[in-house]
Amino acid sequence: MKTENTVWHEQQITKEDRAKLKHQQPCLLWYTGLSGSGKSTIANAVDALLFERGCHTYLLDGDNVRHGLNGDLGFSDEDRIENIRRISQVAKLFIDAGLIVSTAFISPFATDRALAADMLASGEFIEVYIDTPIEICEQRDPKGLYKKARAGEIKDFTGIDSAYDVPKTPAIHVKTDDKSILECAERIVAYLVQHNFVSSL
Ligand code: ADX
Repeated sequence: MKTENTVWHEQQITKEDRAKLKHQQPCLLWYTGLSGSGKSTIANAVDALLFERGCHTYLLDGDNVRHGLNGDLGFSDEDRIENIRRISQVAKLFIDAGLIVSTAFISPFATDRALAADMLASGEFIEVYIDTPIEICEQRDPKGLYKKARAGEIKDFTGIDSAYDVPKTPAIHVKTDDKSILECAERIVAYLVQHNFVSSL
């Protein structure tokens, strides 16, 4: 617990120093969308494209983070809020390290996404809405979870018996149904170039 006896230490090497060394502008690509929408797949493709361009990146993925740091959390509203709070804090540290960070979590609640944005400096938070209709997510059902949720074997499943707040003004709105993974990823990288987070080739 934070107490009056803990004091924030300014570090000698700043975020700006680290960013300069890496020739990039650190930021957070915050992917949000339903389970099976393609968040992790597209985030991975973007990460690979950025890596090829010599960018310094890190991807925090929902399922992976739930194996470790957030292994104690389930899918109640309360646990999802804590999941997103921890991720936001970790992402902020990675941004401080000068990285281009991606987070791929359902992050269903608009209020939590807004809290994550508020934690960062202006312009650092880039909301990426991976917009895949639930019918398509359910058809894909890569982990067989929709089937289980429909059968009542999983409770509080997003889009079925737990809410998903559709982003109202995402910085990048990716509709996946008529595009390839690579096309979606290239669009996101183009945004980063356009807004000077990474340099053009
Ligand atoms: S979040 O809502 O807290 O942001 P997160 O992205 O970390 O969710 O985890 C979602 C992943 O956990 C899904 O892609 C799916 O594989 C799995 N999962 C297991 N149970 C549920 C559930 N009840 N609702 C949604 N996803 C679930």
